Amino acid sequence: MEAAIPKTATMDDIAALAKRRGFVFQSSEIYGGINGFWDYGPLGAVLKRNVKNAWWRDTVELRDDVVAFDSSIVMHPDAWKASGHVDAFHDVMVDCKVCKHRFRLDHLKDRTKCPDCGSKDSFTEPRNFNLMMKTFVGPMEDTSAQAYLRPETAQGIFVNFKNVYQTARKRPPFGIAQIGKSFRNEITPGNFTYRVREFEQAELEYFVPDDGRDMEAFHRWVELRKAWYSDYGIDSGRLRFYELTETERPHYAKAGIDVEYLFPWGWGELESIAHRGTYDLDAHMKQSGKDLRFFDEAAKTHYTPLLIESSAGMDRTALTFLIDAFERETSLDPAGKSVERVVLRFHPAIAPVQAAVFSLARNRPDLVERARNVESGLRPHHRTQYDEGNIGQLYRRQDEIGTPFCITIDHETLEDNGVTVRDRDSMRQDRIAADRLGEYLRERLNA
Ligand code: GAP
Repeated sequence: MEAAIPKTATMDDIAALAKRRGFVFQSSEIYGGINGFWDYGPLGAVLKRNVKNAWWRDTVELRDDVVAFDSSIVMHPDAWKASGHVDAFHDVMVDCKVCKHRFRLDHLKDRTKCPDCGSKDSFTEPRNFNLMMKTFVGPMEDTSAQAYLRPETAQGIFVNFKNVYQTARKRPPFGIAQIGKSFRNEITPGNFTYRVREFEQAELEYFVPDDGRDMEAFHRWVELRKAWYSDYGIDSGRLRFYELTETERPHYAKAGIDVEYLFPWGWGELESIAHRGTYDLDAHMKQSGKDLRFFDEAAKTHYTPLLIESSAGMDRTALTFLIDAFERETSLDPAGKSVERVVLRFHPAIAPVQAAVFSLARNRPDLVERARNVESGLRPHHRTQYDEGNIGQLYRRQDEIGTPFCITIDHETLEDNGVTVRDRDSMRQDRIAADRLGEYLRERLNA
């Protein structure tokens, strides 16, 4: 079998596969959906969890200088005044007076013509549109009860800086990390799960002393994040680290890098890495009147540490893994006929299913029982699935969901204890003894 040149995915390919195989569904689909919200199906939920676990493992668990955090979604409204979100977290938008559609000004290529209905000079004057989602806390629905769903998880970390460093007994340089839901009332959600109104962020707030080595710490985190994407198999040719110019970054930021992926529609941001100085802690100290500075016991002095932030969207990252893994491959079968297969080449740590175990025949209770036993033996160690039936269809399904290994129990297994292990990428089949299966998979899946 000869593999032909792989083709990259279109968004239609991705959305169709995501729906067909149960990765992502439109939220409230039976009611016509709701724009900017998505549900993760059985495989998508595992995919996103694996992405978050990979981030958490490398950013928190394997480091002794980063501690875990989990703050509430609703915070005191003053926190959002201090952060600047109440006054300045907005997009500039215009409405078409003819079709009534709303656009982000910075997304319009031509200000004279509506991209939806084609009307000329039909736009309203630009207006600011705040992206914060509002809610009410308690029984009264008036302004005194108004609160916000957080648009980023970071502020929950900043307001707790003192609680955390004191209880975790940490001193800068050290980081506080959390993964959690954020909400933004985006004007134009779109590109599937790329721009949504409810999403998850993985944020690391890394506090460093102002000792002249802050830019070193910034560059170190950029390199660590670069290595992370590469370790989990993202194509480095489709990833770039775009350095923001002074005019592109906020006035208080000393440096900023956007991690961008080449999506089917062009470059899109996955993560922002920023040197934010003392801006965030200063803002909360000013608003709350509380001292959040670090107290250096040895020097008997207080100081405000500088902040290096890495903030990645988990939905966008999961989407990136899906797109990056997608390959449509044409090859020749033994009879010389051209056959096509769709395969997701997920890294084993990211793949929702790592090993599928098949019984070659549905109507042979002895084979089914043997295959189920093999699957349940592997289940505590790997993400596994049992299936049975036509082997060609079983392989096709597992290729499409990105399962690295398929194990088949056939009639001969009952006699010689051998099983067939098929590798997703090379499609090579190895016959190995069933009792070597655990070791075989461990070597290849935990690499
Ligand atoms: N605390 C910094 C912060 O929130 P950001 O650049 O606004 O920075 C960080 O957001 C990341 O969150 C983005 O790079 C993106 O991956 C994700 N994100 C932001 N808005 C999003 C949206 N509407 N839908 C999906 N992900 C989003």
